[in-house]
Amino acid sequence: MSSTLFRTSPALRGALRASGAPKVAGAMAGIGFVRGKATLPDLPYDYGALEPHISGKIMELHHSKHHQTYVNGLNSAVQTIKEAESKGDFTKAATVAPLLNFHGGGHINHTLFWENLAPASREGGGDPSGALQKAIVADFGSVDSFRKQMDAALAGIQGSGWAWLVKDKTAGNLNIVTRANQDPVSGPYVPLLGIDAWEHAYYLQYQNRKAEYFEAIWNVINWKTVESRFEKP
Ligand SMILES: [Fe+2]
Repeated sequence: MSSTLFRTSPALRGALRASGAPKVAGAMAGIGFVRGKATLPDLPYDYGALEPHISGKIMELHHSKHHQTYVNGLNSAVQTIKEAESKGDFTKAATVAPLLNFHGGGHINHTLFWENLAPASREGGGDPSGALQKAIVADFGSVDSFRKQMDAALAGIQGSGWAWLVKDKTAGNLNIVTRANQDPVSGPYVPLLGIDAWEHAYYLQYQNRKAEYFEAIWNVINWKTVESRFEKP
């Protein structure tokens, strides 16, 4: 899959590199690809393990249905582009590119997202430590201020999208960026922490009170994952 994907989607290639996910250890082998196919990664916690902050029903649907749809869509788009490429039909390949971006981004974003979460009874919640904590204080004033700025960015997303804490590889600082739909973070930005602002991430539990979801999710943020992404050269 990778050779085709790399040739056809520089943005996605950047995101795949930026994610660093293949080096993430544990039950989640990062961005899952087996023999050229994207695969749905297992979660390192039960669906109900993030309650009461994120309900088990949301987690089950979000992972087993929504993420699976992105995996299927990515594989389908890659296959269609491969076939079009083999026939020299670049018009066809070009028309599928948006689907590759959407489903490929959906797969990458959700894989990073699951790793960003952990039960509050385990690694979830609290504050970051070490070099990441220092960098957040330097760039946002305090960890609380960072959380507020991230929540404001999430609240400002119109429609579906994501907010990310990113490391700017060029400037060397941390930043908050938003992305519409499933556009992956790429370019100079390394995604450290992503929060899903799609309605499917919260509506069953929080309905229209999405600010409550944005507040609650900090109780299940896995800062160890964020720290390891930050410290990676
Ligand atoms: Fe989602």
